[in-house]
Amino acid sequence: MTVPAPATPPLRFPPGFLWGAATSAYQVEGAAAEDGRTPSIWDTFCRTPGKVHRGDTGDVAADHYHRFREDVRLMAELGLTAYRFSISWPRVQPTGRGPAAHRGLDFYRRLVDELLAAGITPVATLYHWDLPQELEDAGGWPERRTAEHFAAYAALAGAALGDRVTEWTTLNEPWCSAFLGYGSGVHAPGRTDPVAALRAAHHLNLGHGLAVAALRSVLPAGARLSVSLNLHALRPLTPSAADRDAVRRIDAVGNRVFLGPMLDGGYPEDLLADTAHLTDWSFVRPGDPAAIHRRPDWLGVNYYTPSVVSTAPEGAEPAREDGHGAGGASPWPGADRVGFHRPPGGRTAMDWAVDPSGLYELLTGLARRHPGLPLVVTENGAAYPDEPGADGSVDDPDRTAFVHAHLAALHRAVADGADVRGYFLWSLLDNFEWAYGYAKRFGLVHVDHRTLARTPKSSARWYAAVARSGVLLP
Ligand code: NOJ
Repeated sequence: MTVPAPATPPLRFPPGFLWGAATSAYQVEGAAAEDGRTPSIWDTFCRTPGKVHRGDTGDVAADHYHRFREDVRLMAELGLTAYRFSISWPRVQPTGRGPAAHRGLDFYRRLVDELLAAGITPVATLYHWDLPQELEDAGGWPERRTAEHFAAYAALAGAALGDRVTEWTTLNEPWCSAFLGYGSGVHAPGRTDPVAALRAAHHLNLGHGLAVAALRSVLPAGARLSVSLNLHALRPLTPSAADRDAVRRIDAVGNRVFLGPMLDGGYPEDLLADTAHLTDWSFVRPGDPAAIHRRPDWLGVNYYTPSVVSTAPEGAEPAREDGHGAGGASPWPGADRVGFHRPPGGRTAMDWAVDPSGLYELLTGLARRHPGLPLVVTENGAAYPDEPGADGSVDDPDRTAFVHAHLAALHRAVADGADVRGYFLWSLLDNFEWAYGYAKRFGLVHVDHRTLARTPKSSARWYAAVARSGVLLP
């Protein structure tokens, strides 16, 4: 006799849970030279031979700058209750430190008004990697002045949009800005200097803290401030002490380098010790820890895939697959002997392992360590090689399965005590995937990069049903 499997009940999400999708300015807007926008470090990087797949650029991207009304209509059709986008710094303050560009700010006013009219909550990120090139020419994030300029830009954007945006995020994935931008060099500006990467991490932390203070002074009461971190879900290759130490090192330079100063008030001692051969951290000035330690109203968590790590024996070459771009230098200062291994399980087109338990572990771990801090999954999603069929429709069951499994993991984390307020799928649209150019498609909506036509994929219809009902069916 076969025993029937117990029926899985539908999973109900809390009332008011935000059902969102996310994008970023350089990845979708295009209009790179319009209305006074100046080049960012990504415009420069794209034009540096060999840095971006096929020499793709964000010049046109998904042309969202001109098509945002159509895109907001699509969001409404998909039942989204929130949209996470980023403001392009060189579009609203072209020199990175001078006066505002009013036409640039007007674009975001129009976008936000359109969202509000459609009943969609705007979540604005101030920095999603597009540093004005002028500021990089003056030294970029390794220099303290960049943090101060960032706070002034935050105040400018807050003053212009604070009457209509209540949810703000200072930085998106500062780990990537610091360690892929200045450490491994696979992201703009493409520098490969571990000390510059650590200095950049500190000045991103400082920029966050100064921007929180600046925003609080210009935004109306009730505005909520956050930061989005790509936290690394880590597993030791074996239970050995050496492999557990590899987890500790990557946790230090991957996670606690931001969580420590932002939420606990200082850099972890073990991170300072691991990197002592590189720097004495004297770029951290006495008042900085207090300036950075300003508790956000919620924390954004971006999660895609876990990492399996080990410590290579003395003299052995560490395994080098860390999912953060091939061919660059190491993005992990102080963790030279840590090796990265292929996690088991299915893979996305990025070759990232599909493993929702990493999301569960991150959310419940944060809830334990930082009780009372609301969490939002500000990015989760997958690239697959989606192409329209003969009838023009795009069927992407892999993406539906991916999102289904991750929403179930999120629900389990909530049931186990994590206060998670929303989920933003990366991404609304197929877009410019950084060093991979247009070769990777993360969108709920397919974009024909030649005609710029939008076609919601089958996953978009499925996600709309979940968003509308607030219920995940088995
Ligand atoms: C993280 C980044 O914030 C986003 O810009 C990127 O496209 C996705 N991950 C996918 O790699």
